[in-house]
Amino acid sequence: MSASTSKFAGNHILSVNQFNRDAIEYIFHIANQMQPYAQRQKRTEVLRGAILGNLFFEPSTRTRVSFGTAFNLLGGEVRETVGMSNSALAKGESLYDTARVLSGYSDIIAMRHPQAGSVAEFAAGSRVPVLNGGDGANEHPTQALLDLYTIEKECHAHGSSIDGLNIAMIGDLKYGRTVHSLCKLLSLYKNVHFTLISPTELAMPESILTAITNGGHQLTVTDQLSGSLDADICYQTRIQEERFTSQSEADKFRGKFRLDQQIYTKHFQSKTVIMHPLPRDSRAEANELDNDLNQHPNLAIFRQTDNGVLVRMALFALSLGVENLLQQHEKPVLWHTPKSTL
Ligand code: NCD
Repeated sequence: MSASTSKFAGNHILSVNQFNRDAIEYIFHIANQMQPYAQRQKRTEVLRGAILGNLFFEPSTRTRVSFGTAFNLLGGEVRETVGMSNSALAKGESLYDTARVLSGYSDIIAMRHPQAGSVAEFAAGSRVPVLNGGDGANEHPTQALLDLYTIEKECHAHGSSIDGLNIAMIGDLKYGRTVHSLCKLLSLYKNVHFTLISPTELAMPESILTAITNGGHQLTVTDQLSGSLDADICYQTRIQEERFTSQSEADKFRGKFRLDQQIYTKHFQSKTVIMHPLPRDSRAEANELDNDLNQHPNLAIFRQTDNGVLVRMALFALSLGVENLLQQHEKPVLWHTPKSTL
């Protein structure tokens, strides 16, 4: 086993706190190698026979399906449990018991749950690696990795790098777990300028602000999107209405920070890349990221979702210690999927 393999193999991925820059670079190096498999130019069966337990106790489209797709693309099988009411958790079973049982049926588990800390609690009862697919408002480490991977690629295309990055994060920074994890990862780099724009009630938690300032970065916190921001990245978020005590509470903030072509042109530069973890709330009263930006070349939201498959493939390969065996288990692609250029 190589030194780099041993860092990951068999380990849970619960928080971005467990990564340093070397580990991130290695994940991205492996993610780059996944491109031809994700694009169906080649096929690998390196995980043939392996089973992913994909447990989603909270709504999800892309995270759940991209975990499953990533595992399938490596040749493995996926067993899915969706929704709390369809599982024995609804009968009062503990996360520990569920983990003991399901880890007997799986080689690796991806899990999402509405409570902060729940995935770590589950992992304590699991005999196989557990990947956190989002635990309440706490963390979303695999999303942060795919966001960072996207930022690196977008920066590269614009001749810049993550060191020295200028990023504006907008919206619900209190409950948005993706921005919590992403801020912590970006804090590992040098001279990042964070501009955090949210209603005061939905400001970034203190612990994250501390991680930013401890890293020696520049931090601007405001409740206004005003003036011209020299941002490389504008990271827009959805109001996390499911985390509020009532719908009326969440409604107070709906539509507060919208981004459309006009607002983008007013506050951002022609270089500014637009990101959003998705889903974007397309209802008229929210509409935090307007369809009129759909054709904008700087809109990276669908590049993010594509990159998610590569990063999750890399994480599976690393967690199961097969990242150096991909080519050895290649098979021909026998079909052709015609794809439009949309
Ligand atoms: C995010 C999440 O679930 O935290 N979605 C995702 O995983 N891509 C963001 C959100 O739901 O707003």
